[in-house]
Amino acid sequence: MASSFYSQTLTFFFILGMLATSVRVTAVGYKSLAKPIFRPSPWSQAHATFYGDESASETMGGACGYGNLFNSGYGTGTTALSSTLFKHGYACGTCYQIRCMGSKACFRGFPITTVTATNLCPPNWSKDSNNGGWCNPPRTHFDMSKPAFMKIANWKAGIVPVMFRRVPCMKKGGVRFSFQGNGYWLLVYVMNVGGGGDIGSMWVKGCKTGWIRMSHNWGASYQAFATLSGQSLSFKLTSYTTRQTILAFNVAPLNWRFGLTYQSSVNFS
Ligand SMILES: *[C@@H]1O[C@H](CO)[C@@H](O)[C@H](O)[C@H]1NC(C)=O
Repeated sequence: MASSFYSQTLTFFFILGMLATSVRVTAVGYKSLAKPIFRPSPWSQAHATFYGDESASETMGGACGYGNLFNSGYGTGTTALSSTLFKHGYACGTCYQIRCMGSKACFRGFPITTVTATNLCPPNWSKDSNNGGWCNPPRTHFDMSKPAFMKIANWKAGIVPVMFRRVPCMKKGGVRFSFQGNGYWLLVYVMNVGGGGDIGSMWVKGCKTGWIRMSHNWGASYQAFATLSGQSLSFKLTSYTTRQTILAFNVAPLNWRFGLTYQSSVNFS
C-alpha cells in the first residue's frame, strides 16, 4: 500500500516534471527558432488555367496527399503547380498571391487570389508547350481550382497571363500530422503548415527513442521505418525555404492510432 502510494506519487511528480519540461522546451524552441520569418518573394510572370468545376471536387486527393481539402482545411483556394514549381512535392503547402495581368479576360482592379499548392499539374508531352502543354517544363504554371480562378478572370478565357509571388501561409492553429502506415512504418502527412508552408526535413521522437530522421515519401508525407506504437510522439520540422526549425513536443499521446490526425500547438512564422 505504502509502496504503491509512493510509486504513484513518484509517477505523479514524474509526469508533472515531464509536462513542465515539455512545455518549457516547446516555448523556448518556438521562440528562439522563430526568427527567420518568411517574406514574400518578388512578383514574377506565369500563366494560369483551372481544372474541375465550381464545386472544386476535382481538386481533392491531389499529389500532395492532403486528401479531402475541406477536411484538411485548404478549402477551394488551391492550385496545382507545374513540375518546375512543384519540386517533387517539396512545394506542397506553399502559398501564392496571383493576379491576372495582360488579358481582356482579367477582372478590373486586378484582384488577388490567394492559393495553397495541393497538387501537381503533370507535363503532357503530346501537346506543344505553347498550345495545351501548359504545365510542361520549364513553364511556371498554375492550374487552379475553378473558384480560385474565378476571383481574377473570366473562366471562359481558359488560360490567362498572371503575376504571382510566394507569400507566407496564414494558418490558424498548429501544424497537423496525419498518421498512416503499419507497426514498422510510420507515414506522416504534414498539413496546415504556416510561414513558408513547406517542409525540408523532419524528425520523429518516441518517448523511448532518440530523434529519428524521416525521409520524404511523396507530396507532403514523411516516413520513418521504426516501431513507435505505444509511445508518445514528438516532431522536429525544418522549413524547406527558410530553414526555420520548430519543435512539436508530445503531439501524439501514448495511444495514438493510424488513420488519425494530431495537431501540435506550434507553427512556423
Ligand atoms: C495529353 O494530351 C492528349 C491530347 O490532347 C490527351 O489525349 C491525353 O489524355 C493527355 N494526357 C494526359 C496524361 O493528360
